[in-house]
Amino acid sequence: MLPYPHRHLLAIEGLEPPYIASLLDLAESYALLNRQGKTQRDLLKGRTLINLFFEDSTRTRTSFELAGKRLGADIVNMSVSTSSVNKGETLLDTASTLNAMQTDLLVVRHGQSGAPALLAQKVDAAVINAGDGTHEHPTQALLDALTIKRRKGRLEGLIVAICGDVLHSRVARSNIHLLLTMNARVRIVGPPTLIPAEAARLGVEVHHEMRSGLEGADVVMMLRLQKERMTGGLVPSAREFFRFYGLDAAKLAWAKPDAIVMHPGPMNRGVEIDSAVADDPLRSVIGEQVEMGVAVRMAVLDVLARNQRRNI
Ligand code: NCD
Repeated sequence: MLPYPHRHLLAIEGLEPPYIASLLDLAESYALLNRQGKTQRDLLKGRTLINLFFEDSTRTRTSFELAGKRLGADIVNMSVSTSSVNKGETLLDTASTLNAMQTDLLVVRHGQSGAPALLAQKVDAAVINAGDGTHEHPTQALLDALTIKRRKGRLEGLIVAICGDVLHSRVARSNIHLLLTMNARVRIVGPPTLIPAEAARLGVEVHHEMRSGLEGADVVMMLRLQKERMTGGLVPSAREFFRFYGLDAAKLAWAKPDAIVMHPGPMNRGVEIDSAVADDPLRSVIGEQVEMGVAVRMAVLDVLARNQRRNI
């Protein structure tokens, strides 16, 4: 296996193709072990992992916890309610507390873009970005890539349509970087108000209509409409949004007949995705995304722990 070249995992942007491929291969081997019910509890034995979540999470936090446990780490979950946090100061205070506790692996989710990178400068632990503001969510992009690879056999040359609220989505940003790095073709599809201004610079195709965006797509990735990050009325109403941009069977028919449907969760059923599509076992791989989330996080914890000075 190619040694991972960094101390932290803060973003997909800048990560070179061989390292992404190698992480995906390792994650695939963990996916197989998980399916066989096997664990590797000695790998992170004696290591401490802290889950530090300043924002809500179901899948990400639980899957990091499961991943750490399957590798034998001691896990502490810290949930910090955003409202009571005075960001800059608290983050740095938190950093010194975590250092004093000799944390080995620190999983951070924060509402502000760049917060995990800031923490990484102040702690001895390896820091994993579990989603920072609208910036990046690197393990989500890795688990999405693994899911796509398992279903399609490759990433290269595939047409991936990322649809909906791209503007506020760290999932979209990480996926765009990963998919372009691995030579997939990326389209982003949504109303002009939800497409980031830097889209053209990123090297993606921009579509404002689902029909042209989905035509010939191998993968249709839906995003949650992130109302909590919206400052103004960017969308007229949920009903209208669904009419034009919500994925239902009629719109899915514009994609390739074997196109897969993805969603990082949590889903707003009836807003960005219709239940019939989300629950269609022939098209939806949403459950497999969650399964791959554990495997990918095991791989990430594994490579970061290997890079630490205090090797077991
Ligand atoms: C996403 C997140 O928090 O960025 N969820 C996740 O981690 N699976 C997407 C979202 O909140 O819509």
